[in-house]
Amino acid sequence: MKDIVQQILREAFEELDRANSDIKAIDKVRVKYLGRKGRLTELFKQLGGLPKEKRPEIGKVLNEAREQLEKALGDAIARAKTASLEVSGDFDITIPGRRPLVGRLHPITQTARDICQIFVQMGFEVVEGPEVELDYYNFEALNIPKDHPARDMQDTFYVSEEVVLRTHTSPIQVRVMEARKPPIQIIAPGKAYRCDSDMTHTPMFHQVEGLMVGKDVSFADLKGVLTLFVHQMFGPHVGVRFRPSFFPFTEPSAEVDIQCVICGGKGCRVCSYTGWLEILGSGMVDPAVFEMVGYDPEQVTGFAFGMGIERIAMLRWGIDDLRLFFDNDVRFLDQFF
Ligand code: PHE
Repeated sequence: MKDIVQQILREAFEELDRANSDIKAIDKVRVKYLGRKGRLTELFKQLGGLPKEKRPEIGKVLNEAREQLEKALGDAIARAKTASLEVSGDFDITIPGRRPLVGRLHPITQTARDICQIFVQMGFEVVEGPEVELDYYNFEALNIPKDHPARDMQDTFYVSEEVVLRTHTSPIQVRVMEARKPPIQIIAPGKAYRCDSDMTHTPMFHQVEGLMVGKDVSFADLKGVLTLFVHQMFGPHVGVRFRPSFFPFTEPSAEVDIQCVICGGKGCRVCSYTGWLEILGSGMVDPAVFEMVGYDPEQVTGFAFGMGIERIAMLRWGIDDLRLFFDNDVRFLDQFF
């Protein structure tokens, strides 16, 4: 019986070979061997007539033979189908495959991450804070009381009397200092909101806040850290200058300018012919802010800074229209990787 099964299987494979890519011929082989009256099927029917002790062994041989043949038939049909498509011309294998659209990070996200990475290398830790913020953290604790004229600098979206959309990332400084003891070295990216919209302002924009607090942190440290940042971000030959400024929560304060990356400092439209571009605000943490978070200003000092991410992104890639970041036109977004 075993020999018969092997013989039948051999014949079936030979016929299948001859059928080649002819689907009808392949199907004939299937019917001839596995159909209702097929040669293998007939042998299955004879199983019952065999002595009881022989049945399991022969049954196994038969099952294996059927499985082998079914697999070979399936493969032959698959091959035949592909071949017939190629021949009939319905399927041109020389056409390039359809490329899936691959997403990538938005240039603002990329820039935020790159900025943070530079500070992480200097030992800063990335933290975040809420965008819907208490008036207390956004203003009061930053030395901007209710009647302070500096509130005019930031056209605030009020959610309620005491709740605002944060107008800068500086409230994160306060939250971190409240929750921790010095030394602190943090960098905090996020969205900020101001009721402002024109060529160079959008109601939502992005900032990165930095804060370093400890014993003997000095203005020299501020200059060192921010100069290193500029050189890492824009290249080692870009000039940096610190210009006196004012913020209610830092004293003294400085704005940081870099040499215009468009004209190299000669003067052009982008830098309003000054040769310099402002990129961030900074200063030594005001003692009044330390007192608000329960630090002793006699014991600790620190510096803070905040920069606009859109501005950094525009400068690094020479983008002249802020609104491009928010249109989300793939033809624009596709250029950054
Ligand atoms: N929060 C300030 C702004 O949005 C920037 C700043 C941060 C200045 C930290 C000094 C220190 O303009």
